[in-house]
Amino acid sequence: MPKKFHLANRMSQIKPFYVMDLLAHAKALEAKGRSIVHMEIGEPDFSTAQPIIDAGQKALEEQKTHYTPALGLPELRQAVADYYQKQFSVEIAAERVAITPGASGALHLVLAVLVNPGEQVLMADPGYPCNRHFVRLLEGESLSVPVDAETDFQLTPAHIEQHWSDKTIAAMVASPSNPTGTMVSRDNMQKMISIVESKNGAMLIDEIYQGLVYETENYTTLELTQNAFVINSFSKYFGMTGWRLGWVVVPENYIEAVDRLAQNIFLAPPTLSQHAALAAFSDETLALLNNRRDEFKKRRDYLMPALQSSGFEITAQPQGAFYLYANCSKFCDDSYKFVYQLLEEAGVAVTPGIDFGANRAEQYVRFAYTQPVEVLEEGVRRLSNFLKNC
Ligand SMILES: Cc1ncc(COP(=O)(O)O)c(C=O)c1O
Repeated sequence: MPKKFHLANRMSQIKPFYVMDLLAHAKALEAKGRSIVHMEIGEPDFSTAQPIIDAGQKALEEQKTHYTPALGLPELRQAVADYYQKQFSVEIAAERVAITPGASGALHLVLAVLVNPGEQVLMADPGYPCNRHFVRLLEGESLSVPVDAETDFQLTPAHIEQHWSDKTIAAMVASPSNPTGTMVSRDNMQKMISIVESKNGAMLIDEIYQGLVYETENYTTLELTQNAFVINSFSKYFGMTGWRLGWVVVPENYIEAVDRLAQNIFLAPPTLSQHAALAAFSDETLALLNNRRDEFKKRRDYLMPALQSSGFEITAQPQGAFYLYANCSKFCDDSYKFVYQLLEEAGVAVTPGIDFGANRAEQYVRFAYTQPVEVLEEGVRRLSNFLKNC
């Protein structure tokens, strides 16, 4: 063993997911017999739909355990293309669909194809934290733009105009977003695409929560342009987090580069998961998933007013995903300390704002409504009692 433990310099800028420490702490409390209401985890509580499990088991029995092509099974790429046709009447060539290990794999792959050292990528703060780490890994710079309820916690055309510099090569948007559940309007998306295209930049749209949109008009960016990288996943709406499968629809002229890099960094996405995912688009599965989506909406409709009456400020109405980003500054001036207190004293686990960036992070916490309404009710009861003594 070398005496000195060698770490790349960049590792000092790769921050942990603080919620994982919190989760470990919550589990330790549970092991001692405490009851904890979990509202910290960004993962559906529903298990994978049975038709998908059956297809996965069948693939295993048939020993479908070899590598697939780097961009995925041709039939799955076609199934994704057909899904866009069926849901949004958008025609996509299956060759433009790259199947990846989760949306995580897609984000990493696309950024690695695009970013040179020193180049900048625009993104919203608060936002999905891994994006800035992916950019850092490539020796690029993430340009985090502070956003608030005034713009639904999303980047706007004005932000892009204002912050784009000679070093900027791309803008990233998640709609609906994690941690706020808010969406970019179709009009703003169109305007941002035009601005970024006029600057010869790339637009990366993370639509991982696109299947979980509640009452606003749902759309995919592929209706607006064929020049953006549109990322999605089997994790959230399709309930397949642990199967590690996602996709990205890439602009035609990037297919070869994305394929070449995917061959090197992944070889192929997981084979069994791909066979299982072929069952994700059947009418039977989609009906089941849509029922679950309706259940998420019920949970949001319960939890949002309940938190507001307990004193949390939620100013931007979330239109999708399963998160509420709540201002807790009425109760504390450090949300990180607050979540530990909440866990220890009330047995309720939520995620501190610091996990999503630096912009007024100490004033916010994220609630995930990935639990049945009865469990959320118990969480709110505990919260209310705790806050009385705050
Ligand atoms: C906005 C967003 N993008 C991407 C991911 C990564 O998801 P996965 O790799 O499981 O598809 C997540 C997970 O929480 C997310 O919230």
